Amino acid sequence: MTNQNIESFPPLVDPQNLQPLLPCDAGLCSKSGANYQVLSGIPRVVPKLTNYADAFGEQWKRWRLTQLDSHTGTSITADRLNRCLGDELVHKLSGQGEIQILEAGCGAGRFTEILLGYPVVRLTSADLSSAVESNQINFPQDQRHRIVQCDICLAPFKPDSFDVVVCLGVIQHTPNPELTIRKLFEQVKPNGWLVFDHYAPSFKHYTKITAMLLRPILKRLSPSSRMRACEILTAMFLPAHKFFRHAPLAQKLLSRVSPMLTYFHELPQLNDQLQYEWALLDTHDSLTDWYKHLRTTTQIKSTLNKLGAVEIHVVTGGNGVEARCRKVA
Ligand SMILES: C[S@@+](CC[C@H](N)C(=O)[O-])C[C@H]1O[C@@H](n2cnc3c(N)ncnc32)[C@H](O)[C@@H]1O
Repeated sequence: MTNQNIESFPPLVDPQNLQPLLPCDAGLCSKSGANYQVLSGIPRVVPKLTNYADAFGEQWKRWRLTQLDSHTGTSITADRLNRCLGDELVHKLSGQGEIQILEAGCGAGRFTEILLGYPVVRLTSADLSSAVESNQINFPQDQRHRIVQCDICLAPFKPDSFDVVVCLGVIQHTPNPELTIRKLFEQVKPNGWLVFDHYAPSFKHYTKITAMLLRPILKRLSPSSRMRACEILTAMFLPAHKFFRHAPLAQKLLSRVSPMLTYFHELPQLNDQLQYEWALLDTHDSLTDWYKHLRTTTQIKSTLNKLGAVEIHVVTGGNGVEARCRKVA
């Protein structure tokens, strides 16, 4: 099982009462009698193994490599992560001394790959869905990398456990973003950092009419039907997006009718095969997510202020809002 490397990371606790979880016949047990399975070497600290994030688990199984920089031969993911971390934190990660990071909502591991590239990092990658298995195939657990299946709002760690909590592409998909931000902030050590992003309201979000009509249907289909539906949509619409790749206005108009997310314009460095894979993956992502919340920079700032965070930095960028802050020392 996984925790041969247990001493390298903040200890696992029962999220219900913060009692230590220790290896036992059932997997991991607490003194109060709770027990959690360890499957394929990954602790499953979730009440039940199926949950609202199941579509993500399927998605990251199928597109396990698609968005990894090592697969695309680009620095798209590194650039996004480093921009969100900011210069001071990137400098710290490039220095010396161990830094414990919680990667909340790790998916298949596009950010896992970059974070593990910093030798000082001890990384705990957590996800609610079976994406943890894809993450493990991509980046097997070792002395520097631990994987846990859990709800980040009910995380199996004591408060103040991590120097840095990173959560990119996730919070908008949780039931209550403000609660999620509070729970993530709780995990940060005094003087540590919370780094995250969030979807923001935009003209784009409110005018993708076909997507708005399709999503309530698609997200209720079986995993294979959801995939098939997205493949059909891609076959129907991607050629038109490609045809208008150099015509921004036509592309914008098409995007109001087409339910697809495409990257011909935004990420021209991706070749045709990668354009296809990214479009299919992100169309699946955007049409099958159970929750899709939007928050403005003002709302995110207000949430962080209420938590007593300091050095609050919230900007418009990336997928909407990019934010980081620190906990007082
Ligand atoms: C859009 S994916 C992003 C994954 C990864 N961060 C990336 O950018 O590639 C969102 C991920 O958040 C996970 N997730 C959603 N709600 C969660 C929760 N409450 N706790 C942990 N993970 C969650 C999903 O299972 C999914 O893998």
